[in-house]
Amino acid sequence: MSSAIQLINPQSEVLRRGQALQINITGAMGLQDVLKSNLGPKGTIKMLVDGSNNIKLTKDGKVLLSEMQIQNPTAVMIARAATAQDDIAGDGTTSVVLLVGELLKQAERYISEGLHPRVITDGFELAKKESLKFLEEFKQTPKIDRELLVSVARTSLRTKLQQNVADTLTEAVVDAVMAIHRDDQPIDLHMVEIMKMQHRIENDSKLVRGLVLDHGARHPDMPKRVEDAHILILNVSLEYEKTEINSGFFYNSSEQREKLVESERKFVDEKLKKIVELKNTVCDGNKKGFVIINQKGIDPLSLDVLAKNGIMALRRAKRRNMERLQLICGGTATNSVDGLTPDILGYAGLIYEHTLGEEKYTFVEEVKDPRSVTILIKGPNQHSIAQINDAVRDGLRAVKNTIEDDGVIPGAGAFQVALSSHLTKFKESVKGRAKMGVQAFSDALLIIPKTLARNGGFDPQDVIVMLQDEHADGHVVGIDLKTGEALDPVTEGIWDNYRVLRHQLHSCSVIASNLLLVDEMMRAGRSSLKSENVGPN
Ligand SMILES: Nc1ncnc2c1ncn2[C@@H]1O[C@H](COP(=O)(O)OP(=O)(O)OP(=O)(O)O)[C@@H](O)[C@H]1O
Ligand SMILES: [Mg+2]
Repeated sequence: MSSAIQLINPQSEVLRRGQALQINITGAMGLQDVLKSNLGPKGTIKMLVDGSNNIKLTKDGKVLLSEMQIQNPTAVMIARAATAQDDIAGDGTTSVVLLVGELLKQAERYISEGLHPRVITDGFELAKKESLKFLEEFKQTPKIDRELLVSVARTSLRTKLQQNVADTLTEAVVDAVMAIHRDDQPIDLHMVEIMKMQHRIENDSKLVRGLVLDHGARHPDMPKRVEDAHILILNVSLEYEKTEINSGFFYNSSEQREKLVESERKFVDEKLKKIVELKNTVCDGNKKGFVIINQKGIDPLSLDVLAKNGIMALRRAKRRNMERLQLICGGTATNSVDGLTPDILGYAGLIYEHTLGEEKYTFVEEVKDPRSVTILIKGPNQHSIAQINDAVRDGLRAVKNTIEDDGVIPGAGAFQVALSSHLTKFKESVKGRAKMGVQAFSDALLIIPKTLARNGGFDPQDVIVMLQDEHADGHVVGIDLKTGEALDPVTEGIWDNYRVLRHQLHSCSVIASNLLLVDEMMRAGRSSLKSENVGPN
């Protein structure tokens, strides 16, 4: 029997019922197979090579899914939903892919015995609702202090980096979020600037409570280190403007040109005079330093004048940094040097220039109560810097989520084991055939602890049985990836984020249900119909 769509467009490709379902299941399981090995702290990493042979090493689900070229339409759909998971909750991408694959695999067992997919999806829906309720009960709400946040950050970073590299970053990540967090205000992670330096070994990454600018003062006589400094944040050009080039201004003798240059110079000198006056007012009779950070240019002659007056001046700062500077040092950026008053000045305890190879950096540190901070990432090459950068992003979000959720979930597979057995009990209360959907959901959850075990080199079945036994005795247990034994994630400080799991449960059941309910797959989109109708004119 031909499909209805083929009556309209005989060339459309159609796959029906069993075939369509089969394609979806294989697609989902294929993607699951690819990402399986990356889950957890013992997961392996993947090497992505792009068209121009750039290398990227990663085990982050989001990075993999957005950078891999995926062709299978089902896999594309799952990948999109999983990356949405990362955008919303900041983590848990790999788990979503594994869960969707496993839900379809479990469902297939029942469907192959003749059960209608709708019955399964009804069961999934019930199971999802119950799971979200269970998640609420399972959530732990210890006091959100630095110690807890350090555990959260450690758990997250160790799933992405080698342990020793991860551990050097843990405290930096926590302190960064704590520094910018203000009670009762949402945390804006844009306030944590990540600065990358290609240098030496990874273990050198650290938190700078202030700002790092990727350039230095361009004058040999300027101070390289200023302490206890007033900071003038400017957006004023201190350059000789070359009016004769920029405007239609003509001269016909060398004297006239001299005059023009002179008056231009005078214009800039006036501005400099006002700045120096301000400096003299605030620094007179004390040892305070004076630093100018300007978004516009400063020409060599002006730098000379400033250097003579003992002022450190940085030119062409990025606009983004200008905004940050005000949050870090206080003070107000100004567009004009007329009527400068001391109250627009910011403050920093220490400003110094740091040279790394050919690059110069300027550190603005020791500020009072910064509302923005910088994490400095040092790495020996671009791909390790990128890897650390991705991990730090994940870590920051894990800490932010914990503070905003006001609670955490015991990790290392503990939640999935507990939920799975809870659903098995819940199944008894479900009437009718939807039971089987609930059972399928419950079985599918175990893919997370199973995969963690497999990646740690242990037998998944043994581990699951052991965990289930321990759970039946009333303990909250996860898997210890060093020994393959059970451990208590609460005492070990292995925590997952509440919102990550909530979103994960929701999205995986929705995608799996959608894929199960597809009974016809056709390549008959608009573009393919159009291309046949459009002939040469
Ligand atoms: N020390 C640990 N021991 C055992 N399991 C752990 C440990 N740390 C984290 N896990 C578990 O690892 C899983 C998270 O792994 P991972 O971060 O690789 O995947 P993901 O969060 O699903 O995806 P992604 O981070 O790639 O978006 C969670 O289930 C977590 O409980
Ligand atoms: Mg993760």
